[in-house]
Amino acid sequence: MALLEVVGATKVFGGLTAVDDVTFSVEPGTIGALIGPNGAGKTTLFNLINGFLPLTSGEVRFKGERIDGLRPHKVCARGLARTFQVVKPLQRMSVLDNVIASSFLRFPDRADAVRHAREILAFTNLSAVAGEISKGLPLGFRKRLEIARALATQPDLLLLDEACAGLNPTELDESIEIIRRIKDKGITILIIEHHMKVIMSISDHIVVLNYGAKIAEGTPTEVAGNPAVVEAYLGKGE
Ligand SMILES: Nc1ncnc2c1ncn2[C@@H]1O[C@H](COP(=O)(O)OP(=O)(O)OP(=O)(O)O)[C@@H](O)[C@H]1O
Ligand SMILES: [Mg+2]
Repeated sequence: MALLEVVGATKVFGGLTAVDDVTFSVEPGTIGALIGPNGAGKTTLFNLINGFLPLTSGEVRFKGERIDGLRPHKVCARGLARTFQVVKPLQRMSVLDNVIASSFLRFPDRADAVRHAREILAFTNLSAVAGEISKGLPLGFRKRLEIARALATQPDLLLLDEACAGLNPTELDESIEIIRRIKDKGITILIIEHHMKVIMSISDHIVVLNYGAKIAEGTPTEVAGNPAVVEAYLGKGE
């Protein structure tokens, strides 16, 4: 059974259909990718999946159960965590405290939460900056902190919204390595990403959106060879 099933998801903002009857699923243990031009509706689809926004119509099922209509914290408690495209750490808190705040979801005892948070920082190569205030950190660290905060809630499915955007080549390789390690832990991933290097090297299945609608899906090879995708997206010199 698919871990995540999105069925006919539609979101209308005033006169704009930002997500238009999108159906796809994510199989457990895989990395799924969502690609498409700016404004295609990718982030809006994430917002529909994690309960940040209500659907206009359609359904979202996670582990076989409907989750549309649940608030984001309830969705997170069921094991579906996300990162935000615009990083939103609790800016005046340390890196460690940011991750402890997320760890409390599974570890109500403070000592356990701290121990778990430190493990997550080690896993995301952030131990060296544990005591730093998040606000002053370079983007690469803040992007990894965003992943760490989501991981600390022990998700079964992790939604990554442009977790690699704006990274330099070294940081990019480091993040790809961390994403691979997350998959190796058995966590399923759905990633939005513009870097084709990242998408082609890590994803098992790609869904392509254009003007809110799904225009193609398949393996990286299938999608890269699809004329409609090249026309809408790949041909634009990313
Ligand atoms: N809360 C909102 N209210 C009104 N319109 C919105 C809202 N959120 C997004 N939109 C519009 O919906 C469309 C899809 O936006 P969305 O942010 O989902 O695109 P995206 O694929 O994530 O783009 P990008 O690659 O630039 O991040 C855009 O036209 C955007 O302006
Ligand atoms: Mg977006």
